[in-house]
Amino acid sequence: MKVFITRSLPGNVEKTLRENGHSVVTFKKDRPITKKEFINYARNADAVISLLTDKIDSEIIDNLKKCKIIANYAAGYNNIDINYAKQKNIIVTNTPDILTNATADIALTLALTCSRRVIDGHDFVKKKKFKGWAPKLLLGLDICGKTIGIIGAGRIGQAVAKRFKAFDTKIIYYNRSRKSDFEKKIGAKKVTLKKLMSVSDIITIQIPSTNETYHLLDKEHLSFLKPNAILINIARGEVVDEKYLIQLLKKNKIHSAGFDVYENEPNIDPELLKLPNVVVLPHLGSATIETRTKMALLCAENVLRVLKGKSAKTPV
Ligand code: GLV
Ligand code: GLV
Repeated sequence: MKVFITRSLPGNVEKTLRENGHSVVTFKKDRPITKKEFINYARNADAVISLLTDKIDSEIIDNLKKCKIIANYAAGYNNIDINYAKQKNIIVTNTPDILTNATADIALTLALTCSRRVIDGHDFVKKKKFKGWAPKLLLGLDICGKTIGIIGAGRIGQAVAKRFKAFDTKIIYYNRSRKSDFEKKIGAKKVTLKKLMSVSDIITIQIPSTNETYHLLDKEHLSFLKPNAILINIARGEVVDEKYLIQLLKKNKIHSAGFDVYENEPNIDPELLKLPNVVVLPHLGSATIETRTKMALLCAENVLRVLKGKSAKTPV
């Protein structure tokens, strides 16, 4: 059968699929595929491996005449109209679990980079401004003893909390459901979003983007942030009112913010890029060789199972 992959992936996905008797076409250009190209390539495919940069709406789905599975190369799947796919009997899968640790590491990376002013220090040295150790040079903030607010205590949120726990911090979380195991293991305490925003020193966001979480951190909630708060978003830009957050950062109403994701990705608000108190990464959450390779193989495994008439390993 025919498998279409919307961009070249790490690992031996094509080989794996071919060894199982399928033909594979990969969109080879080094940029996201356009809608028109997607439709042209995928029209006759029995399976599609897609990226979070592919917006798969009802129009695209209507053109997938033979497709049985869309295997999304990401944990998030807000890029796909999953209800419409379901109506058309197309199975959608994602790549949960295997990217949890890598993604949690990026939250810590951003938090440490913001709190210890790593980028400022790096630039300072590179610009040859370093004239020797000084008592007041680039002072950051401690992490030990602080309160960490985890927004979204799924697998990734819990993995972030576990890492922060090792820094001797207090963990509170906001989540729809109570996570009793998490509370027992980490000593985490469930609080309201308002409370979390008001008392946390570092806030990390791991909640999926859905209609319900759109601008979950709106003006009102962002206004509760403490003057020295650090906000880290590794989930999706849409969860935060980015324009308002930029205003807060501009007026130094909070300490800093670390971004791995943006509201208008990849077109980042130019105002944000001008700010000295932000750290910006190009959506690197799962970007390790090991993790991205495992994600590709999981997509292939889901495709192989569904094309054999079996159930998918990780359906959404
Ligand atoms: C990355 O953001 C993912 O959803 O995998
Ligand atoms: C994502 O996989 C999560 O559960 O946070």
